[in-house]
Amino acid sequence: MKKACYIGGQWVETGAYAPLYAPYSGEVIAEIAQADRETVERAIGAAQEAAAVMRRMPAYQRAAILEKISGLMNERLEEAAKIIALEAGKPIKTARGEVIRTIQTYKFAAEEAKRIHGETLPLDAAIGGEGRLAYTVREPLGVIGAITPFNFPMNLVAHKVGPAIAAGNTVVLKPASQTPLSAFFLAELAEQAGLPAGALNVVTGSGGTVGDLLVTDPRVKAITFTGSPAVGINIRNRAGLKRVTLELGSNSAVIVDRDANLDDVIPRCIFGAFAYSGQVCISVQRIYVVKELYDTFVERFVAETRRLRGGDPLSEEVDYSAMISPKETDRALAWIEEAKQRGARVECGGEIDGRVLQPTVLTGVPADAKVSCQEVFGPVVLINPVESVAEAIELVNDSRYGLQAGLYTNNLSLALQAADALHVGGVMINDIPTFRVDHMPYGGVKESGMGREGVKYAIEEMTELKLVVVKR
Ligand code: SIN
Repeated sequence: MKKACYIGGQWVETGAYAPLYAPYSGEVIAEIAQADRETVERAIGAAQEAAAVMRRMPAYQRAAILEKISGLMNERLEEAAKIIALEAGKPIKTARGEVIRTIQTYKFAAEEAKRIHGETLPLDAAIGGEGRLAYTVREPLGVIGAITPFNFPMNLVAHKVGPAIAAGNTVVLKPASQTPLSAFFLAELAEQAGLPAGALNVVTGSGGTVGDLLVTDPRVKAITFTGSPAVGINIRNRAGLKRVTLELGSNSAVIVDRDANLDDVIPRCIFGAFAYSGQVCISVQRIYVVKELYDTFVERFVAETRRLRGGDPLSEEVDYSAMISPKETDRALAWIEEAKQRGARVECGGEIDGRVLQPTVLTGVPADAKVSCQEVFGPVVLINPVESVAEAIELVNDSRYGLQAGLYTNNLSLALQAADALHVGGVMINDIPTFRVDHMPYGGVKESGMGREGVKYAIEEMTELKLVVVKR
């Protein structure tokens, strides 16, 4: 199956195609167009032309198109979930969950399209400001370059395309090389929903060519990127005056205080650590348990982890499958090995069955081992004891990242102190850092990024505030 780029409402062939491999079976599932410079420029040109149309389109029409995309995705939910399972190696149950979230994200975008507004300003608060009516409006930026990751190929695309269209922008989307099929599926739905030609363009190929041109072409007014800190920082350094929103990595942590109810906490932490094999920016990577509970916690956590089932992502029975590529699997294994060399103990996992890395639980990991201080993005979690929540907060903050953190405690005062002290974009009290629903503000501090997603917040990033002053 050959998949061409989608530009200006047409499927555009390119000179080169690359095979797309299923992470679990290793089989070729499609041949994907590899855009060259001319193709990317054509896509940006199409988006710029459509920007004039989208800018004039009334909010109720933008909302109706987004609502329609959401409805069409709902009708084709199973098909969408299978695409994700196949190309991303995401277990079908988890993939279905992603599609349900995606449907909601487009719905939120439809709703937010109707509430983009400014405010009136009392200019007469300043000497010389009297006799004027002043108000602000939010205008679309124009062409948005969206560069998306493999781990949520439908919903993280929705988090960029939904707000962009809601605000009256147009998009050139470069999906992750490993998961282009979900983006092509969206292009089909968007066309069916009546999105004008050129308002969404999907250009596949290497980051070096497509990503680079999006970042440097002056017609592109903003870049919204989810991916690694190294690439994000490079984008920021090269984007000049473009708006840049970056959702980058994390080594997210959860703290478990002495009064936590382990019947609730352990299944939730296992979900946070191993859902989609830990390939989630807010995956639980570090668990700090107050020492009184530590031994029981580790024993129960390991016993429940051993019950997870690995295998074919299309099987309803499966909880985890292959990581996105053998290269990433080898990297995660090497990091586990490094931790072992440094004195860590493998409580379970640490081995590969076929192409599938088992969920791995480590204890006794030093803070400067890679599995602790860098982002694993794999099915690896460490559990270390702490004397107190205060000590755990220091450990959580001792990180180059700061996306989300979790704390289980019934002590309200401690919870509020932690909320204040944790240096992250979001604090989850009595939940894991992996909690996310799609209208909440989402983003990080430090190397976890800049700007916020969550539809309303992404719209703020994708619009320009304009002031109008009328002298009476
Ligand atoms: C991410 O990996 O950044 C997205 C997590 C989510 O949307 O649940």
